[in-house]
Amino acid sequence: MILDPRVESAKHQLRSVRAVYPVMSVKGGVGKSTLTVMLSLALRELGLRVGVLDTDLSNPSLHYLYGLEHRKVDVEEDEGYVPPLVHDGIRLSSPVIFTEGGILPARDKDSVNAVLELLAITNWRDVDVVLIDTPPGIHDEQLRLLKLMSGVHTGISRPVIVTTPFKVSLANVSRSLDYINSLHKGEKILVINKHRGRDELSMQASFKCILRVPWDERLDERLVSLEELLQSKAYAELRRQVHSGKDCFF
Ligand SMILES: Nc1ncnc2c1ncn2[C@@H]1O[C@H](COP(=O)(O)OP(=O)(O)OP(=O)(O)O)[C@@H](O)[C@H]1O
Ligand SMILES: [Mg+2]
Repeated sequence: MILDPRVESAKHQLRSVRAVYPVMSVKGGVGKSTLTVMLSLALRELGLRVGVLDTDLSNPSLHYLYGLEHRKVDVEEDEGYVPPLVHDGIRLSSPVIFTEGGILPARDKDSVNAVLELLAITNWRDVDVVLIDTPPGIHDEQLRLLKLMSGVHTGISRPVIVTTPFKVSLANVSRSLDYINSLHKGEKILVINKHRGRDELSMQASFKCILRVPWDERLDERLVSLEELLQSKAYAELRRQVHSGKDCFF
């Protein structure tokens, strides 16, 4: 990587973060953003302090899911900006905090530059692990993001690949595995979301672990608050699997 003061600053800001989990998917709408929020809650319940970063610049949704949309956010400055607490022990860094709710329709190199700038000024303070919500698809943009993260963070980096259990979706992940492995050599987690009954999975060996989150017909209506989300069937099942398989994340 070319010498860039933003890279040095991002490294400094991430120095005490133990692990980062980029949440990615081959197809859109599979539940990445919802799962990012649920994973932050489940990891928090393990006693970890969690940071969450929204890198879906043209379609950011985490501020909405964490209930920040209609709240005025006071940005604390201290060697950069300290992402606001959106729940006990969970901090959210999102470009929306600086754009007053507007979007940044940046793509490819521009979007990675915007993410690097955000990382360079984000003081994660007491955060142990960072979840990164990403835009849909696994293409150049996501490749650049993974490269950026490996350049600025030396701890555990474990992509969470999200899919639905439908044959076409699973086949897409299976077909993309070589490409995904070429982007990231280390271990990965697979989440089969909106799960109903059985799935025909033939790629167990490619993942450190596989989590299955059930289809929850009431999930959408529960996305109005974190308290509601914590009561959901989908969250209860994800939490159970995260807590019984902690090794998956470390
Ligand atoms: N386990 C589930 N059961 C039922 N509905 C779900 C489940 N998980 C997510 N959803 C619903 O799926 C929809 C898409 O979720 P979400 O926005 O999190 O997907 P995404 O992958 O982030 O989308 P995008 O690719 O556009 O960023 C939402 O309406 C959400 O409520
Ligand atoms: Mg999303």
